[in-house]
Amino acid sequence: MNKTFHITTFGCQMNEHDSEIMAGLLIEKGLDRVDSIEEANIEILNTCSVRENADKRFFGTLGQLKNRHEKDQDFLVCVCGCMMQQQPVIDTLKAKYPWVDIVFGTHNLHTLPELLDKVIAEKSKIIDIWPDADTIAEDLPAERLFKHKALVNIMFGCNNFCTYCIVPYTRGREKSRRPEAIINEVKALVKDGVKEIMLLGQNVNSYKGHNDDADSNYTSFSELIYKLNEIEGLERIRFMTSHPKDLSDDLIQAFKDCNKLCKNIHLPVQAGSNAVLKRMNRVYTKQHYLGLIDKLRKAVPDITISTDIIVGFPGETEEDFQETLDLVNRVEYDSAFTFLYSIRQGTPAEKYEDQIPEEIKHERFNRLVDAVNTISEKKNAAYLGGIEKVLVEGRSKNNPFALSGRTDGFKLVNFSAAGTSFENNPDALIGQTIDIEIIGTKTFSLEGRIV
Ligand code: 5AD
Ligand code: SF4
Repeated sequence: MNKTFHITTFGCQMNEHDSEIMAGLLIEKGLDRVDSIEEANIEILNTCSVRENADKRFFGTLGQLKNRHEKDQDFLVCVCGCMMQQQPVIDTLKAKYPWVDIVFGTHNLHTLPELLDKVIAEKSKIIDIWPDADTIAEDLPAERLFKHKALVNIMFGCNNFCTYCIVPYTRGREKSRRPEAIINEVKALVKDGVKEIMLLGQNVNSYKGHNDDADSNYTSFSELIYKLNEIEGLERIRFMTSHPKDLSDDLIQAFKDCNKLCKNIHLPVQAGSNAVLKRMNRVYTKQHYLGLIDKLRKAVPDITISTDIIVGFPGETEEDFQETLDLVNRVEYDSAFTFLYSIRQGTPAEKYEDQIPEEIKHERFNRLVDAVNTISEKKNAAYLGGIEKVLVEGRSKNNPFALSGRTDGFKLVNFSAAGTSFENNPDALIGQTIDIEIIGTKTFSLEGRIV
């Protein structure tokens, strides 16, 4: 088959990784990946449904493909990802976009090659959505975005049912991969040049992997970290996302014991008011969360901490919002992702009556972003003059002559190879961990110089 494909990915790192797997499957099948939709015979839109604007962007992008699809008989359009696990979306596609060739979901993405064969052979259209999956498809190839770092799924789905969140409905119940499958995958990645892995799951702290060896039952998340820490050649282990309710003392201990586990944690708090946390079904209080931060900082004084915060959840009063600001000021996050609450169809919070008017949401959002950025700037300023070990990732996005990489604590560092022995071949540094002196700091990044 002489075909080219392109994948547009919306949403989180799980989706990024799903796209890497689909690319791996198609390349294995002999297709070529191209850089733009225009050059592609097959376009795949991998959707996200966590907030409303991702939905809107998907339908906008899809609408733009209609013209070409009408004119070009060989152009196939496939849509997949979280949005497809929602019946109202499927109904909309059937009614308004019947020309889409393949519609599939999050539980059957590994069947993409067969679906394509069928549609091409039969000149048909397919909608194939699995409500859930009993087993986890293993040994799937992946075409990685980066040579030296890799995303590794350790579990799928979520059992938490936070009242604002669509994920438990689109990704199903929690399922953990077997530890042996994860360890083998990481060993193979290391052989292929990978230095850093990011372990992925909606809620990694509740990882519970069934061991192949029947005598020893299950491997917990912290036990998995200890096992991965032993893999020779691997330099860095990261993970996301953790739920504060399941953050164990064992994991905090792992930060002390495992030299490869990066001193960085993303610990979504969502809100600072106990009343709001309760209505969100987060099952912890502000005090409990602050206690966890204390414990983490006592165990690992230089740990960097980031979070997710939702502004304008139904019923949020100014006093509730002040609790969020107070929490942000007390924790002093290195960075925070801030979101305007967005109603998701089918979630309990959709039915909550006291939705917050848009202007109030935006006004609170702006105040929160100011607070978060002021702290990020201050936190970064403390790195000035220090020396950091930076794993070089590639050319800097904004300046092609500069390189960029990440510190152990996940700080983005931009630096130039000019004036060094790498001046004529800066790419030789990619994948290496080098000492960088921090000579400038900004809100979202650091500037450095090779030592
Ligand atoms: N509205 C706004 N933000 C949301 N998130 C999840 N669902 C919603 C929603 N309905 C945010 C949470 C989560 C992050 C991935 O997205 O903060 O941690
Ligand atoms: Fe959504 Fe809550 Fe599960 Fe995270 S833990 S995916 S916010 S339901």
